[in-house]
Amino acid sequence: MEKLVVQGSQHLSGTLSISGSKNTALPLMAAAILGGDVSTLSGIPNLKDVRTFARVIGYTGVDVSLNPDLGTATIDASEVTNPEAPYELVKRMRASFYMMGALLGRCGHARVSLPGGCAWGPRPVNLHIDGFRALGAEVELDKGYVTATAPGGRLRGGRFKLTPSSVGATINLMLGASTANGTSIIENAAREPDVVVFGEYLQAMGAHIDGLGTSEVVIEGIPALHAADFANCPDRIELGTFMIAAALCGTPGEPVTLVGGDHTQLGDAFIEAFAATGAETEYGTDAIVVRAPAEIQPVSVETAIYPGFPTDLQAQWTVLMTQAAGNSKITDAVYTDRFKHIPELRRMGLNAIVVDNEVVVEGKTRLSGAYVMSTDLRASVSLVLAGMVAEGETHVQRVYHLDRGYEDLEGKLAAAGVEVKRVSYDEFADPEHEPAHA
Ligand code: EPZ
Repeated sequence: MEKLVVQGSQHLSGTLSISGSKNTALPLMAAAILGGDVSTLSGIPNLKDVRTFARVIGYTGVDVSLNPDLGTATIDASEVTNPEAPYELVKRMRASFYMMGALLGRCGHARVSLPGGCAWGPRPVNLHIDGFRALGAEVELDKGYVTATAPGGRLRGGRFKLTPSSVGATINLMLGASTANGTSIIENAAREPDVVVFGEYLQAMGAHIDGLGTSEVVIEGIPALHAADFANCPDRIELGTFMIAAALCGTPGEPVTLVGGDHTQLGDAFIEAFAATGAETEYGTDAIVVRAPAEIQPVSVETAIYPGFPTDLQAQWTVLMTQAAGNSKITDAVYTDRFKHIPELRRMGLNAIVVDNEVVVEGKTRLSGAYVMSTDLRASVSLVLAGMVAEGETHVQRVYHLDRGYEDLEGKLAAAGVEVKRVSYDEFADPEHEPAHA
């Protein structure tokens, strides 16, 4: 097992680079299955989830070749011999459920394991299943698997309203609808940049799609898409995470430069909340420069679907608010129980009260380094941020959660002045007698 050992009272300085978007790379890879030939995707981050999904896609007979040095995924979708996604792979990553739409759209048949839950409770796929039924699929649930068949081998156009709006369901239904026989309308569709860029890839493959970025997406199905190369967009959640880190640990008034990101994908709610903290930000075309404020102002936020405040930045924002000049309230209206980071942060000194889907965070908190446990991707990175601002050393254990969505985090932070290193450890050893790390 590995952990990150983070020294406290750190100052972030210099430059950090933003990698390709995880939550866009995955749907792009799924879409390539529809191409029926070789497609090369660039800007693909070197992440555990990308490697897992490459295995999921490879299980169907489609050949996926990842080149982490070049940041490419070359996908040869000329043959789909086994339209199935097995439990032992799907359980590792929920987004594997995109195989349902990709295989229905390519072969008219799919057998995909239901994804498990995740660290913060159930994450249903009822909208995906009901949506495919609206496109004419016959869908059965049996022994933990979803089997879907398009009568005559091809879905038909249909109309479906997502309640609530869902990124994954929007993507999955677009995958199936692109080759359906007829026109489909997805109402209350997700407007996230991930969905827009993914839709632009489908269009590059020949799909007829209108309404990308709006809450009504209209897809006129065609018999088949063609392969196409495509460039992924940068990761907006990594960008937001590093902006928060800069406000939290930057030297007041000193620039921290973030290169390779796209601030237009952050959404107005985050941009406005971030400005209200007192952090000064220059949004340039090639770089974003953040200067930490002398005193962080408390800013209460409520997450919402795009362009609202991203739920994927909720945990990171909580850590920033521990250092604010007053109390703040953070409400997650997307996932009502996404607070697994709170008990771990409490071990570092966080004073917070959680009521339902709200957490009230006390500002001006002296955090102290501790042994803490990662529970999910964004909770993990919030523990690293807390370790950077705490007094003393923090051991963020089970860092495999972090590796799902942050490419070389410790390398990027170390290059920006943070003392952090990755260390192997025995999960069951007694930390009091753990050998001093090298
Ligand atoms: C995507 O998950 C992201 N994952 C998540 O990021 C992100 O938190 C989430 O969107 C919300 O922005 C990927 O893109 C791989 P949803 P997704 O379907 O698609 C409910 C990260 O850290 N819902 O938009 O699974 C659901 O319970 C990850 O990178 C249903 O009720 O999220 C939630 O309340 C974590 N039924 C709401 O919709 C369904 O069938 C939004 O979920 C599907 C969803």
